[in-house]
Amino acid sequence: MQQLFRVLDPGTEDWVLARQIDPSRLPAHVAIIMDGNGRWAKRRLLPRVAGHKAGIDSVRSVMETAARLNLEALTLYAFSTENWKRPKSEIDTLFRLLRFFLRQELATMMEHNIQLNAIGRIEDLPEAARDELHRVIGATSGNTGLKVNLALNYSGRSDIVDGVNRLIEEARAQGQLGALEISESVLDGALSTAGLPDPDLLIRTSGEMRISNFLLWQIAYAEIYVTNTYWPDFRCGDLLRAILDYQKRDRRFGGLSALERVQTEDRALEAEAIPAR
Ligand code: FPP
Repeated sequence: MQQLFRVLDPGTEDWVLARQIDPSRLPAHVAIIMDGNGRWAKRRLLPRVAGHKAGIDSVRSVMETAARLNLEALTLYAFSTENWKRPKSEIDTLFRLLRFFLRQELATMMEHNIQLNAIGRIEDLPEAARDELHRVIGATSGNTGLKVNLALNYSGRSDIVDGVNRLIEEARAQGQLGALEISESVLDGALSTAGLPDPDLLIRTSGEMRISNFLLWQIAYAEIYVTNTYWPDFRCGDLLRAILDYQKRDRRFGGLSALERVQTEDRALEAEAIPAR
């Protein structure tokens, strides 16, 4: 948090928001469905791709804020397996923008000790984008701070299918296919997010109440935060607002809240104190 206060001017809205955050209860992993680029552009009578271009500034701002907050992981849904249905010109621009983003933001990633990773069927991306991605992943691989995962050609269902197939292939190669048993932790370790904590907070911009095939397995207990803000307008303050909202939630993971637990224990003690007839 100290790093964040270093760049916030006292009295500004972002500073006031940051002051309200409890640093001991930050989410370890934040995942974001970046939505509303097209509507942002339409509202300004601009082509859709202008919204994607403007969205790069939001990616930088969120990455920097997450690094300054010392979060462990940030996963951004940048291109889904369903996005191939868009016009070719929009897809081409999205991958051109990805290359531009990677070239431009490598310095930001190095400055903030960010390790970049990609999740999804990366092998099917256009070659130039794939090469740039591998270059930046390699260049940041020694960084030990925030892990930024770009979900590209990603879907939650394909992640699970690929994970199961990987397990089957490995077991077959070892002649152990008959003995293969899949448990939650085994499947967890075969997914693209292996080794990362599950997202604590899932943010979706632009007001849509959908998961859109994102991290289906991993968001089992994520707190969901939907904001009407379009992605190109999403900045540091919006991330802080989402975290503040998250900190108000009572996370029970299917159990009882801390208060309910105390009340239940009190009632059990009272019950014990009642003499049996
Ligand atoms: C959804 O908005 C956004 C996308 C499909 C692409 C996300 C891409 C970026 C934020 C640009 C750059 C990112 C990187 C990592 C280089 P939409 O087009 O579906 O918006 P709409 O629902 O308003 O039409």
